[in-house]
Amino acid sequence: MPHTAAASPAPAASPAPAAQRASAARPASAAAAPPRAIRAVGVVGAGLMASQLATLFAQQLRVPVTMSDLSAERVEAARAGIRARLDRAEAKGRLASGEAAEIAALISGTTDPADFAGCDAVIEAVFEELEVKRAVFASAEAAIAPDGLLLTNTSSLSVEAMAEGLAHPERVVGFHFFNPVAVLPLLELVRTPVASAKAMAAAAGLAAALGKTAVPVADAPGFVVNRLLTRLFAEVLAEIEAAAAAGGDPLAVDRALAPWGLPMTPLTLIDYIGTAVQQHICATMHSSYPDRFPLSPWLAAAAESGVRRLLADDGALVPEASALLERVAAARSGAAPEPVDGTRVLERVRAALAEEVGLTLAEGVVDSAEDIDQCMVLGANYPAGGLTPLLATPAR
Ligand SMILES: NC(=O)c1ccc[n+]([C@@H]2O[C@H](COP(=O)([O-])OP(=O)(O)OC[C@H]3O[C@@H](n4cnc5c(N)ncnc54)[C@H](O)[C@@H]3O)[C@@H](O)[C@H]2O)c1
Repeated sequence: MPHTAAASPAPAASPAPAAQRASAARPASAAAAPPRAIRAVGVVGAGLMASQLATLFAQQLRVPVTMSDLSAERVEAARAGIRARLDRAEAKGRLASGEAAEIAALISGTTDPADFAGCDAVIEAVFEELEVKRAVFASAEAAIAPDGLLLTNTSSLSVEAMAEGLAHPERVVGFHFFNPVAVLPLLELVRTPVASAKAMAAAAGLAAALGKTAVPVADAPGFVVNRLLTRLFAEVLAEIEAAAAAGGDPLAVDRALAPWGLPMTPLTLIDYIGTAVQQHICATMHSSYPDRFPLSPWLAAAAESGVRRLLADDGALVPEASALLERVAAARSGAAPEPVDGTRVLERVRAALAEEVGLTLAEGVVDSAEDIDQCMVLGANYPAGGLTPLLATPAR
């Protein structure tokens, strides 16, 4: 039955904030005026995430969703993909008879941001580039009411920087979902220093209406999950490049974290995210923390060459990725031949993540290690208990 998302309490209850930065991450109590009800939604982008977001909003809220992209072809392809996935869900009995058509009919397409007029919230899921997102928000702001929500699905960029120059930056909120959206329950709810209590309350209510667990986080690079995953990737990719230069097996490095029982290997996860998106996240983290987040020449080359996947279905490197790795290895002269020591790789990753968890807490991105573990379980499908128990014991 159709319903709207009105205010409800922030779903992630947690201890009172201790650090000043952490209190910036926590939604303040709702302002006197009730948050805006969500009766229509705009989604900017029709790519991997935007298609899933349009489906989630239409399915959970049963409100009209307007989806835009740069070309009508892209929008129509996305709508066709959404319809096909809904039909499959109905065929498998996960939707009632007729529900697929009902949900799909709520999602319309456009290339004109003026068509967001009347939307109570617009979420952007376009390329991970600050200037592109700023331009998208400027045109969405021109179309919607002054207190309509502007939400961003950015993985790593500054939400505050994205809101700069807008007439009403106080209604911009980070609303970071995880892929696959239908499966992973986490939503990192990012509060900027200028966000209004009313906007945060509306965003928290919307998250709850969408069935997500919102963990409030500060507006810091990569928030929680991508900060930690990107640190992990930085260590593993450096080891892979060193192994390739020393004639070792790069895939043995990729398998080195197996004792932790993670849902997939690092390269499998990079493929899931997409090399281009992950490279953008790496670049953001590198520009904020260059020493701890060195860029991987191999990942950069793969993203630049349009090599979206590093691994083939049989688990081997795809030929293009293999050739790029050989080129990167050849540029590192003088490496002595050495087999991969998986225990040493695991210990390197463990020590790096222990450091990053400590810094994330010291910066007040979240209130507690429990918040970090909750994020890694709900957003990255880590084993029960999360990340920090894995870091407690050195690997040798
Ligand atoms: N890929 C993931 O696993 C993942 C997970 C969480 C968050 N994100 C974030 O979601 C966002 C989108 O990522 P994606 O993987 O869906 O990317 P994608 O490349 O699949 O889709 C991006 C879409 O945005 C469109 N676009 C670009 N500029 C536009 C504009 N000005 N107006 C309208 N449409 C425009 C592109 O044509 C493309 O269809 C990024 O910010 C990314 O960091 C991605």
